[in-house]
Formats: sequence, C-alpha cells, structure tokens
Amino acid sequence: MKPKILITREVFDETLAYLAEHCDVKSNQADKPFDPATLALHLQDKDGVVCCLTDRIDEAMLASGKRLKVVANIAVGYNNIDVPACTKHGVMVTNTPGVLDDSTADLAWTLILATARRLTEAEAYVRAGDWKGWHLKQMLGVDVHHATLGIIGMGRIGQQIARRAAGFKMRVLYQNRNRWPADVEKWLNAEYATKEQLLAQSDFVVLQMPYSPATHHYIGAAELKQMKPTAILINSTRGGVVDDAALVEALKNGTIRAAGLDVFENEPKLNPGFLELKNVVLAPHVGSSTEATRRAMAMTAAKNAVAALTGSKPPNLVNPDAKTKA
Ligand code: GLV
Repeated sequence: MKPKILITREVFDETLAYLAEHCDVKSNQADKPFDPATLALHLQDKDGVVCCLTDRIDEAMLASGKRLKVVANIAVGYNNIDVPACTKHGVMVTNTPGVLDDSTADLAWTLILATARRLTEAEAYVRAGDWKGWHLKQMLGVDVHHATLGIIGMGRIGQQIARRAAGFKMRVLYQNRNRWPADVEKWLNAEYATKEQLLAQSDFVVLQMPYSPATHHYIGAAELKQMKPTAILINSTRGGVVDDAALVEALKNGTIRAAGLDVFENEPKLNPGFLELKNVVLAPHVGSSTEATRRAMAMTAAKNAVAALTGSKPPNLVNPDAKTKA
C-alpha cells in the first residue's frame, strides 16, 4: 500500500504527479487554507504532509497526526513548525534551502531600489494624475551606489544579497551568528561588524536572519534610534524580527528615512499604520515568488517527503536527531 500524504495548499501539476507516483495523495487544490481543526482532522490517517509557512504544525497537530513520519515545508524558514516536538515524536522535518536564494536576494534588492527611489510613491502620483511636468526637485531619492549596505544574517540568501552589491560599488557590512573566514569575506566583499556598528553606519539595513525566539523584535525602538535618520530598513526575512509598531512610529517621526517590507507581524493583517505612510514599500511575502523558484520549492518539498516515506534520508532534513518511526 502506498503511504498517505496530505498537501495543505495548491501546488503545481508536476508536483502532484510526482507525489502520486509514490503516494496516495490528498490535496487541497481549492487553495482555501485549512483551519487548524480541519487540518488536524486530515492529518489523522496521513503518513506525511507537504505544508506551507501558513500551516502551524505543533504538539496539538502532532497529537492528531499520530502516524506522521514527515512534515515537508515548502519554505526555507520553518518557524511555523515546532521542530523539537516533531523530533520528540519521531517526525522528520524538511525545508527547501538553496533553490530560492537568488530569487529572494533579487526581491530584497527590489525593495532596496524601490525605497531609495520612492518607486511606489512615484507610481501612485502618476496614476493619480498629479504629475504636471518635470522639475528639478521632483521625488528626490537617495543613492544606492557607493552607499553602505548592512546585512544581518549572512546565510545563503544574505550572501547573494551581498554579492549583488558589488555592481553598485557599495561598502558591505554584515552581522551573523558566526563570522565567516577571511576567504569567504573576500568573496562577499563584506566586513564583519557588531550589531551596533552595523546599525550606526549603514545606509541600508537588510534583515535576512531566521526568525526564532532569539531574533524576536531584533529591531525595536532602541535599534531604530541607533540607525541613521537617513537610513532605510529592509525586511525580507520574517515578520516578528521587527517590532512593527515601533517601526511605524520611527517612519512617522523621521527616526529613519524609509522601509521596504515583504513580511509582517501577524501577516496578512499588517499594522494599519503602514498603510498611512508614503515612506514604506509594501509587498505580500513574495520573496521567492517567481514561477521557476516556486516550482522548484514545491518539487524539493515533494522529493523530501517521498524520500522520508520510502526509507531514504531526505536531502533537506532539519532534525537529524528524530528517531524515525518504523
Ligand atoms: C519563505 O518565506 C521561505 O521561508 O521560504
């Protein structure tokens, strides 16, 4: 008998076809997210689940999904999953690192350029019919070239963001849990800095570290005050690393110049203060959202799930300590 697998949200046809070769698939192609009670019900007879960052997989869910052997997240971040609980219950957790690095770095750069050159504000102005002609002081932005870029979280995605800075002739500072060796720093053209140094010196601060209790509100009112009043904050990682209420105040008061945000606390219900501000560029958590990358992410998750359910080690196993079920 084929293992039973649940896909919690809409995926691409090739992902479904691949999973169907190996598993008995139940999929939510209607793409209305399951509420937790419905998800728990669906997990009761499943051996595996391919899920998204909008699904919370915790103790309560695992209590329903007693047969689960694998939780395959279609995302590189996995803060939606209680990994220690999965490990305790012998459930493998997998993610999708690598395939989304370049697309997510591109989106961080989209936010850098859009905030610096006030692109969404400029577009709204044109669309509203307010543009009456060219003038010298129109929509003055700030230069990205030759500015200082501070990257917090120099993992795979942070590195791709840093590499792109060379074309803009920027100085790059970084902060990371561990300092990289000199040859990697040279390849990145980046200098290690303390959090305080990075916040005080950067013209653009990009957040790309994973979300965890340790990084909750890593940027709050105190950190925003440490930044230059001309600085721009970019959050392309996860809601919760920034205290959004403090950021709204900082943007209102001119503590910093602007922000570019792809992620929010309690998304999709973002702080309404953001909507009243012109100096913020808002995106709906689309960092990895190119067709090729989202296809690759879904297939990576599917391959991880199938490996786990057919007795192999999944390529992207997050919790190798999980004592897997027979
Ligand atoms: C997207 O946010 C991801 O973690 O892949």
